[in-house]
Amino acid sequence: MKAEQQNRKAPPGSLTLGVSFLTHLLLILPILYILVVAFHRPEQLFTWHPICMSLGALMIIEGVFSISGEALLSHKLSRANRITIHWIMLTTGLCLILSGLIIAIVNKDNLNKEHFVSFHAILGLTTIVLAFLVATFGIIANNTRWLYPRIRPVLIKVLHAFGGITMTILFIASVIAGSYTHWLEHQNVGDHDVGKKLVFASLFIAGVLVLFKPILGAVSRTRVLIKTPQQPSNT
Ligand code: HEM
Repeated sequence: MKAEQQNRKAPPGSLTLGVSFLTHLLLILPILYILVVAFHRPEQLFTWHPICMSLGALMIIEGVFSISGEALLSHKLSRANRITIHWIMLTTGLCLILSGLIIAIVNKDNLNKEHFVSFHAILGLTTIVLAFLVATFGIIANNTRWLYPRIRPVLIKVLHAFGGITMTILFIASVIAGSYTHWLEHQNVGDHDVGKKLVFASLFIAGVLVLFKPILGAVSRTRVLIKTPQQPSNT
């Protein structure tokens, strides 16, 4: 109980809380926009690709935020609880992403179209492969004793952190690239020129805010790794 209390962060200041709130807003609004457009044609199979992918990406990015910089809730929770929330959100997000991928593949098969040819498709597939690798490293990072002392815990954690940062950037890029495909124009619900630009700007700024702390954390862990090459560490 005492250790759990010690693991909790001090209550954040109003600026930190404001930035956290803004980050959630910048992440959620573009996804809501895609969902609102998508739900004009829920009867079409392909509609469920953007729905699953944008919701999955949102879950994953929020899951990354929940363990790193989120201030509204995380200061109230112990590190162990934050890790639980992190992996539940990541796992749910990955299930949605996998469903979205299957829908896109089945839809292309039905139309007899070639797979993984566009920029968005190649970027999306790369992101998904990396996300599953990062998740595997996450499982190992949470159970470093499995490989200890052959592999240092800090090395696994640094790899998981850098992989997670790259994965988050790629998920943001995939959603932006998705909204720049022909799909939005084909929905016949108004002009999406401004909408696309707002999706881009909003997700870009949210990405910078989400990744600011994880990048600092990964760099400082890399320093530990370089400074103490021989001693196994538990950080
Ligand atoms: C995390 C986000 C996303 C990922 C990882 C992703 C991944 C993919 C992949 C791998 C394909 C290729 C399927 C195949 O070739 O068989 C694809 C196709 C497609 N996606 Fe996404 N997608 C994402 C989000 C979106 C969003 C938000 C939209 C629309 C707003 C969208 C629109 C499309 C369209 C129109 C295609 C078919 C044309 C093409 O292959 O480029 N995607 N996506």
